[in-house]
Amino acid sequence: MSTETLSAALEREHREIDGGIEEYAAGLEAGAEPDHDAADPAPLRRAMEGLRRHIYLEEEFIFPPLKASGLMMPVFVMLREHGELWDAMSGLDDLLATGANASVIQTACQDLLLRLDAHNSKEEPVIYPQADAQLSDEATARLHDFLADGRMPDGWKCEKATR
Ligand SMILES: [Fe+2]
Ligand SMILES: [Fe+2]
Repeated sequence: MSTETLSAALEREHREIDGGIEEYAAGLEAGAEPDHDAADPAPLRRAMEGLRRHIYLEEEFIFPPLKASGLMMPVFVMLREHGELWDAMSGLDDLLATGANASVIQTACQDLLLRLDAHNSKEEPVIYPQADAQLSDEATARLHDFLADGRMPDGWKCEKATR
């Protein structure tokens, strides 16, 4: 069993997701210079897949027990922001699919990073310490397993996604 706290594992996932988006955005910038290939969208796609799974595990396994323990308002804010993040990712998928130009995609990546920063900077100090304190050992172990190799069900959408 992992001795790492849930919050440490979840915060690491935040950094990995940010890192993938940043890597892709940096590649877009390099692509604007002569003799550079267009940025490979693989790091962005991987980061968005990771973010969707991260949102899934929070909404399905972490928020419900915290809500039940009285943390209604902070959880409500997190759910609303997840919906905005989800919609921003759908917008980025559309831009990639239609071959939008690099500066438009760059702006959308920066927007997603700003939203993530605003979200994570509340979630990490307010929500995660409560998850560490309140989830049972069994629930915590299950979440560590999910973080290692769990999959989001096909077609799952977060509660407040509008698309
Ligand atoms: Fe979140
Ligand atoms: Fe999170």
